[in-house]
Amino acid sequence: MHHKQHVRVFLTKLGILVNRQIILASRPTGLPCPENFRMIESSVPVPGEGEVLIRHTHLGLAPAARLQMGEAASYRAPMKIGDVIYGQALGTVLKSRNPLYREGDVVMIQDGGWQEYSISDGHAVTKVESDIAPLTVWLGALGTSGMTAYVGLLDFGLPQMGETVVVSAASGAVGSMVGQIARIKGCRVVGIAGGQEKMTHLRRDFGYDAAVDYKDAAFDEALREACSAGIDVYFDNVGGHVRDVAWPLMNRNGRIVVCGQISEYNDSPASGPGWFDILARRLSVRGFILSDHANRRPDFLRDMGAWYREGRIAIREEVQEGLDLAVPAFIAMLQGKNSGKAIIKL
Ligand SMILES: NC(=O)c1ccc[n+]([C@@H]2O[C@H](COP(=O)([O-])OP(=O)(O)OC[C@H]3O[C@@H](n4cnc5c(N)ncnc54)[C@H](OP(=O)(O)O)[C@@H]3O)[C@@H](O)[C@H]2O)c1
Repeated sequence: MHHKQHVRVFLTKLGILVNRQIILASRPTGLPCPENFRMIESSVPVPGEGEVLIRHTHLGLAPAARLQMGEAASYRAPMKIGDVIYGQALGTVLKSRNPLYREGDVVMIQDGGWQEYSISDGHAVTKVESDIAPLTVWLGALGTSGMTAYVGLLDFGLPQMGETVVVSAASGAVGSMVGQIARIKGCRVVGIAGGQEKMTHLRRDFGYDAAVDYKDAAFDEALREACSAGIDVYFDNVGGHVRDVAWPLMNRNGRIVVCGQISEYNDSPASGPGWFDILARRLSVRGFILSDHANRRPDFLRDMGAWYREGRIAIREEVQEGLDLAVPAFIAMLQGKNSGKAIIKL
């Protein structure tokens, strides 16, 4: 056994819990590298009045964490050097001094972070009904990823039966749900993702009508062919070149939902459409941030829960085990090596 593991076992026997945490060691330039992160150990804090202590069982990896590693404020404040990396977690309440939670409750913690334990005052913690779906589904389809897809597509994309909906990062956690909800709404759905393997996931697993590989040299032409009737809704998760090829195919009164711009998160320069064309084609371009739409959660859980129970939602997950794998799995996700929700099991 490794020396550190001996120490942990010893401390645990004394009733002292050790919290392993991954912190921001330095700000990445471009694609993050392992040196930007550090694993540290600290003692697990004791919950105060009104607080709960949660033992994390799963972490949900999300591209937004990369935005907050930069110096510039985006829609959330940047992380400070030494902060635990931001991210959602699922866990079990270990000790509760909050009347709303009991020991043993399974909960989702919005900002639990990349660590083994967290303390919360109950704000931004929601109970999870583990009898409805396996736990990990609450990080993906029935969690923030699914709700982002639901709100973005239905409230801002306004898809109508028979319309063409195009989704980028189409096999990812959000994208795979956008594609499937659009199909349920009777649309023709075109997915864009990187690499031949993902083309199979898009068609076979998620039921896209057409799949287009943006890493292929013939991408521009292939997207035009796949969208011969034009695009009515473009759900943009990536921005950059993919968006530049997609938007000129927009039909009149089309809707562009700006959900994410991942191609720019690693400091790549931004590009954009010619704004006169937005005027001429009467396009709506709508950005949104899920946290402004918490009021839609009951509708989301009702509809998505029903579709899930009816077997109409296919789910892919990339689950890796061990906190040590959070950093490599996160870097892999930013390189498109995941299909479906990237999750760390602790
Ligand atoms: N607005 C909101 O409230 C909100 C909430 C959640 C997520 N989001 C956004 O939604 C998007 C998807 O997030 P997610 O959690 O579902 O992650 P994800 O799609 O599961 O993983 C990210 C995917 O992005 C693609 N990608 C990475 N770099 C790219 C590049 N340079 N060009 C094109 N594609 C690239 C990769 O797939 P391929 O390259 O193979 O396609 C990768 O698998 C992100 O932009 C995220 O910021 C927004």
